[in-house]
Amino acid sequence: MARSARILAMANQKGGVAKTTSSLNVAVALREKGMRVLVVDLDPQSNLSMSQGIDVENLDLGMFDVLVRSLPITDIVQVCEIDVAPAGIELAGAELALSSMIGRERALARALQPVAGAYDYIIMDTPPSLGLLTINAMVAAQGVIVPVQCEYLSLRGLAQLQQTLGQVREHLNPDVDIFGILPTMYDGRTMHCREAVDVLTASFGDTVFRTRIGKTVRFAEAPVQGQSALKFDSAGQSARWYRQVAREVLERDGRWTDDLERMRAKQSSHSPNAQPNLRLAS
Ligand SMILES: Nc1ncnc2c1ncn2[C@@H]1O[C@H](COP(=O)(O)OP(=O)(O)O)[C@@H](O)[C@H]1O
Ligand SMILES: [Mg+2]
Repeated sequence: MARSARILAMANQKGGVAKTTSSLNVAVALREKGMRVLVVDLDPQSNLSMSQGIDVENLDLGMFDVLVRSLPITDIVQVCEIDVAPAGIELAGAELALSSMIGRERALARALQPVAGAYDYIIMDTPPSLGLLTINAMVAAQGVIVPVQCEYLSLRGLAQLQQTLGQVREHLNPDVDIFGILPTMYDGRTMHCREAVDVLTASFGDTVFRTRIGKTVRFAEAPVQGQSALKFDSAGQSARWYRQVAREVLERDGRWTDDLERMRAKQSSHSPNAQPNLRLAS
């Protein structure tokens, strides 16, 4: 029987903490590992859609139509590096349009149901607020990944996010919880940054991913080309960080197998350029 998708929301009400960057790159890294992945853009600023080269100015159909007009999500999905359900600026009107509808918090959960069997992962990028669009993502999700910039003020916002998540759990989706906290824009040279991560791990323990996403301009450069960092800088550090996060996600879900890695290693050692076995000189 086909398994159902793991549905994860990338959320943090603070802007500029790498929600969009993490949504896209974790998704592409999971795709590299052979997973079938859909990314849902729930931000009216459309950054994720643009990062995959989608022309959002001339978007015919997007998440607004899915949430407000109940259009099947398959009608709007565009095949990019991963499948993307894009958003245009009209999504900014969705919160108001939804607010008078019965079941307004469950519109996204309903929309995802028909495609849950077609994907291994559905990742939702959310706007920088705890409004109705983010609530919809929390209701549809089994887990929330929270990217956190490694600084004191960013950590404070986590309490508010937890409070909202607690309310969602109580009234709308008893199963949802924080799946992982992802330290981003980490600069190990500054004491403040190291301390912020110490505070984070002291409070949240193993919920914090082991991977720290460092700072690099690659993450700003890749979207200009309509590419993920994994495609833009495939052998680079930026790609490696997100591959590590994807591995941690799969491990936490019990979907990681070393077989997968062994298979890859074997394939690359079969390449004609592989080194012959070296023998120690006697
Ligand atoms: N690890 C990083 N190092 C440096 N810049 C980053 C990193 N991650 C993201 N950025 C840049 O920071 C800005 C905000 O990232 P973004 O993913 O759009 O955040 P959010 O979706 O939370 O608002 C973008 O310009 C992005 O390219
Ligand atoms: Mg964003």
